[in-house]
Amino acid sequence: MKADEGDNPLPEVEKAPLVVDVEFVETEEAHDAPLLNAAEQVSTTQASGPMHLPSSLPTPAGRARVVTVINQKGGVGKTTSVINVAAQMGLRGHKVLVVDADSQGNCATGLGVDKSKVRATTRDLILNPETAVNSRHATAVDNVHMIVGDRTLVGLEQEMLRQLGRERRLTEAIAPLLPHYDLIIIDTPPSLGLVTINALVASDGIVIPVQTEYFALEGLALLSGTIREVRAFLNPDLGVDGVLMTMHAPTKLNQQVATELRESFPDLVIEPAIRRNIRLAEAPSHGIPIHLHNPTSAGGQDYQDITSVLERRWRLG
Ligand SMILES: Nc1ncnc2c1ncn2[C@@H]1O[C@H](COP(=O)(O)OP(=O)(O)OP(=O)(O)O)[C@@H](O)[C@H]1O
Ligand SMILES: [Mg+2]
Repeated sequence: MKADEGDNPLPEVEKAPLVVDVEFVETEEAHDAPLLNAAEQVSTTQASGPMHLPSSLPTPAGRARVVTVINQKGGVGKTTSVINVAAQMGLRGHKVLVVDADSQGNCATGLGVDKSKVRATTRDLILNPETAVNSRHATAVDNVHMIVGDRTLVGLEQEMLRQLGRERRLTEAIAPLLPHYDLIIIDTPPSLGLVTINALVASDGIVIPVQTEYFALEGLALLSGTIREVRAFLNPDLGVDGVLMTMHAPTKLNQQVATELRESFPDLVIEPAIRRNIRLAEAPSHGIPIHLHNPTSAGGQDYQDITSVLERRWRLG
């Protein structure tokens, strides 16, 4: 049925300026191939508007650095980065606790933890902060412990709505663990619910994995707004520890986006970009991180290199 405009027609829709289509080339390009020519250039920064990512502060003495790995965009390599940075830090002798705040619970699989044998999870930790010590599990990597996320986290958001101090539950829960670890690293779901806010409130810094694709900077713009609000109301010291470029391939588009990220955030981008590498995708099916599965693969090398950068930034060296 055709809608009747009657005597009060709606005003005409506003025309947004159109963005030129970007040619997406999946084939491997020579590294010295020119980027898109001037006429084809699409500014990914213009598309996302102005944004500010505040730097983080050093870790207070005598306690773990708490870091949330976050991007509201899904499938950008958050969990892969948590697993492999944690594992690499553990292999270097640092004491690491992984907290999985995602109901998908993939960190457990990637770190070799059998979820069916787990009795206390991140949900228990948030609802009953006093259970923190007993919620930890050993993993396939020495020095790396974890608190497992699972499907019960889904209902938690609703339950928390009734609680006082609901944004600070995780901060409270991990407080007694801080002196016992060098690094507490929190994996988050691709959404901004109360559990993710809890992670941001508990953190000294955040690491943002971004896929070097066209929408990368849109995701960052969203996140910069989130950080601004968390700093204003809940955690004034929250800052960014680094931007990780993930699933990078030598296509024109990937390289153009990487260049824009480097130019926009020269102090925050962590080098090298992590290459797209099948070994990283297959390691979790063996229940082990890349450094045990295939340390000499491109993915293994890249995660070692970015861990060295983070080790310096977090002064864990
Ligand atoms: N560098 C890489 N090369 C190839 N595959 C990768 C790479 N990084 C991650 N992957 C694969 O891409 C998929 C998404 O990665 P991952 O689960 O780490 O993303 P995520 O941001 O945690 O996703 P979600 O938002 O759903 O939590 C997984 O199958 C993973 O194995
Ligand atoms: Mg994930």
